[in-house]
Amino acid sequence: MIVAVDGPAASGKGTLARRIASALDFAYLDTGLLYRGVGVAVLDRGDSLDDAEAAIRAAQAFDPALMNDPRLRSEEASSAASKVAAIPGVRAAMLEFQRRFGHTPPGGKKGAVLDGRDIGTVIFPEADVKLFITASVEVRAERRHKELLGRGTPSIYARVLREMQERDQRDRSRSVAPMTIASDAVVIDTSAIDVEAAFQKAMAPVLEKISRQ
Ligand code: DC
Repeated sequence: MIVAVDGPAASGKGTLARRIASALDFAYLDTGLLYRGVGVAVLDRGDSLDDAEAAIRAAQAFDPALMNDPRLRSEEASSAASKVAAIPGVRAAMLEFQRRFGHTPPGGKKGAVLDGRDIGTVIFPEADVKLFITASVEVRAERRHKELLGRGTPSIYARVLREMQERDQRDRSRSVAPMTIASDAVVIDTSAIDVEAAFQKAMAPVLEKISRQ
């Protein structure tokens, strides 16, 4: 069973996807880490993020062990990810890894939960359940701002908001696999609800699907 969880940055999709995976004992993959890993690898090699060939080479040589690198959580990695994720050859190189993860989840698990931007539209158009988690850009910027301050990273709300708007725009307008809502996705807006309420809403279609299997 495959559960696709898509949505913009700081929508709460990662938290929800992780909780769903844990509740069902499914494998979980944060696919943003793949693009973050490629972005950081390009920077580590001293290449430019505008050099598509260099990014594709880094994607083809991608080592999944890189996903544990704490540097991938930085804003620099996030911005680099958004740039390399717009390159078709980078996305193509990541496709097989994601499909394999979903079809044969590690640890012999009976299912997988993947979160990203195009899981329900491109990677698994046939996913058993598709969720699209969203929230207003102001709420998402506020969450990210608080998260940064909580980590001791200096942050200015207006700047976080502007960067989030720019990133949304980049993720939505790229020509390959833009972030769109699958026609058969269940949309959950987390702007005005807490994690517990969002989790209940997210589990409803998943449990319904399981009960019909
Ligand atoms: O979810 P995140 O913040 O870790 O994602 C980082 C960047 O990677 C984001 O700008 C969009 C991109 N991304 C993508 O294009 N496709 C995915 N499946 C996951 C992330």
